[in-house]
Amino acid sequence: MHAALSWLAAGLFAAGARAAEASDPAAPSFYYDLGPESIDVSKYPWTQRENYEVFKKNCQVCHTLARPINAPYVDRRDWGKFIREMHVRKKEWTNSPFAQGEAEVVIRFLVFDARIRKIERRMEFEENARRLRAEFNRLKKEGRARKPVPEDSRSR
Ligand code: HEC
Repeated sequence: MHAALSWLAAGLFAAGARAAEASDPAAPSFYYDLGPESIDVSKYPWTQRENYEVFKKNCQVCHTLARPINAPYVDRRDWGKFIREMHVRKKEWTNSPFAQGEAEVVIRFLVFDARIRKIERRMEFEENARRLRAEFNRLKKEGRARKPVPEDSRSR
């Protein structure tokens, strides 16, 4: 094969391999997908431990819990906005128990938990975020990260 052609073929092969990896549903879309998928709630008040169960039930339907757990958001406005604008659009989910009243419970949990882990232990949280971002950037360079779902296909 001509040198330039084999070089092109090799490049295309590599691009194909990358695309296959990036389309893997397990590939991360956000750096926060790479962090832990659970929270140690053993020292939380019992109401918040119950709220955590509601959070777990609802928030790993479409992605892992790592996404909300390691996301930088802390306040009620942000969580409310994500839950309303992003997620409730999906039909099956709109008809789930979540849409019928569990959203407020989840928001209460997320705001409480953010105060403990993301505000009171901010140094630790930010150090972890730095580590996750570095890892995510490395995966992105290797073509092993996915783009978040574009706005117009979120509800599909
Ligand atoms: C119906 C499917 C679905 C469910 C259920 C769901 N998510 Fe998501 N979530 C998505 C999709 C899709 C994205 C990526 C969306 C985008 O394009 O921003 C996402 C992204 C996120 C992000 C990252 C947003 C950003 O732009 O930084 C957070 C945080 C999040 N979800 C939290 C939650 C929480 C909390 C719950 C439970 C209340 C939840 N998700 C349940 C589909 C879902």
